Amino acid sequence: MWSETTERELTTATLPAAVAKLLPIPSELHALQTKANAMTGFLKIEKLGKAYQSDKPVFSDVSFTIDKGEFVCIIGHSGCGKTTILNVLAGLDTATAGHAFMDGREIAGPSLERGVVFQSHALMPWLTVRQNIAFAVHSRWPDWKKPQVNEHVEKHVGMVGLLHAIDKKPSQLSGGMKQRVGIARAFAIQPKMLLLDEPFGALDALTRGTIQDELMGIVRQTQQTVFMITHDVDEAILLSDRILLMSNGNESGGHYVPGGLAEVVVNPLPRERTRAQLHHLPGYYDMRNHIVDFLVSRAKAH
Ligand SMILES: Nc1ncnc2c1ncn2[C@@H]1O[C@H](COP(=O)(O)OP(=O)(O)OP(=O)(O)O)[C@@H](O)[C@H]1O
Ligand SMILES: [Mg+2]
Repeated sequence: MWSETTERELTTATLPAAVAKLLPIPSELHALQTKANAMTGFLKIEKLGKAYQSDKPVFSDVSFTIDKGEFVCIIGHSGCGKTTILNVLAGLDTATAGHAFMDGREIAGPSLERGVVFQSHALMPWLTVRQNIAFAVHSRWPDWKKPQVNEHVEKHVGMVGLLHAIDKKPSQLSGGMKQRVGIARAFAIQPKMLLLDEPFGALDALTRGTIQDELMGIVRQTQQTVFMITHDVDEAILLSDRILLMSNGNESGGHYVPGGLAEVVVNPLPRERTRAQLHHLPGYYDMRNHIVDFLVSRAKAH
């Protein structure tokens, strides 16, 4: 078990100590966690809440931080508010309560400092793959000449294996291909932070695995900071340093309890893990069972 404390009681400052007590962690991991502890949150969420109906907030009191270079996933049932949180971080939605900061500044609107891969593909249907990505690249670096933009676009389209479709329009692509264009576009603008909303949801298992590997390689290489929503427990365990478990709002004992962060799971597996070896790593099944148990029995009840 990684942490039994609720996020409301658990600050990132106390997390490694709490985890250390619960887990027989090798000394090098202790050192890593102490280092993480000393870092200040690059992204900081404070007491975030969202209500469409004032007496029934979707979630409330959500607080967490993400350090530079950290990969954090959030898991929770449909409707608990994951996309809403990601949209607030992207500056595309506003919270009803609380604040979100990146690099010490409050997030007040969309910015090219944050690359977003949406749950829906959000491509411009009248532009080809090349033009869709070039549009974003040109917005990011307005001074770049056409050949430089083109080279940069082709590099990122190649990264997701779509060079053969680079001059096609979104309507000519499958759902999975469109999602890969979204991923290439987010990476192409080299954002300070990647916000990914189920980026692999529409991919078949084989492509999904390949792109997970690609993403992990690039993220490790570039020290990219990532916040990602997923429904796939194995994907979260493979990719993330920490996993936020989110509960749904629900009626409990005659009164409504908003959703929120129920627990933060620190991934104790070595960071250099691969998909192929994941299920052989000591601790993998315990962690997986813990998250699945949360989703089955605790995510809908406080
Ligand atoms: N404009 C709106 N008006 C009213 N309720 C809304 C609105 N937008 C979202 N909601 C509600 O807010 C809740 C959270 O939505 P959100 O899209 O963040 O969920 P999610 O966790 O991303 O779900 P999923 O896993 O299905 O994508 C949902 O219950 C949804 O019905
Ligand atoms: Mg969503």
